Amino acid sequence: MKTKSLPKTWNGDVRNFWSTHSDRLYQFYVLPKIVPFGAGKKVLEIGAEYYSRYIKPIYNSSCSLSLLDIKPYSHPDIKNVLNVDRFIHLDMTVAIADYAEEFDIIISFGVLSHYNFSELQCELYLDNLLQMLKPCGMCAIKIDVQIMEKLEKFSNWEKLLLMIKERFSIQASDTLYDSMGLKQFIITYCSKEKTDVVDRNI
Ligand SMILES: C[S@@+](CC[C@H](N)C(=O)[O-])C[C@H]1O[C@@H](n2cnc3c(N)ncnc32)[C@H](O)[C@@H]1O
Repeated sequence: MKTKSLPKTWNGDVRNFWSTHSDRLYQFYVLPKIVPFGAGKKVLEIGAEYYSRYIKPIYNSSCSLSLLDIKPYSHPDIKNVLNVDRFIHLDMTVAIADYAEEFDIIISFGVLSHYNFSELQCELYLDNLLQMLKPCGMCAIKIDVQIMEKLEKFSNWEKLLLMIKERFSIQASDTLYDSMGLKQFIITYCSKEKTDVVDRNI
């Protein structure tokens, strides 16, 4: 996507950031078109790391944005540093009892298929996503296919996709290919409700 096609409302450092991170731009440009980011929605982003500051300005700013990470981020003013409404310090690969049905939208990019998690850890991660999502909520899960294929403990991204399908109804999915025509990543947009699947290759 070219810088000039960025929405006019993305100004200043927000515009600068997204125009120099085109790989990440895709997901944040497309996502709000699929997931309804209406006013007052409770959004949870898992492990946003360096770009957390730039998420809220491009979504509906009246959403409440929580960031969850295994890193403690002990800064006294962490919410301002990260530009989020709430910071949650948790490991998504162990069973979590809190935050049941709390979020309308959950975004999980670059965590699940990015680290050397075991299959059981991935199961627990997905169970946590499922229980944290509201009954009518939507969860966007990105599988980094090429990164996952290199992992030692659990490298089977097709099995991971099946594990997602066992728990969620996939409303739509996007597959992005690299310049060699190989799958680079798959994003699934998941709900708890059953409807027809829309598959898109981009
Ligand atoms: C690769 S980074 C950033 C990913 C970012 N969402 C992206 O797409 O570029 C992954 C983040 O996930 C966090 N993380 C790693 N393992 C985690 C876990 N088990 N539970 C929660 N967060 C975790 C890391 O601390 C880091 O901030």
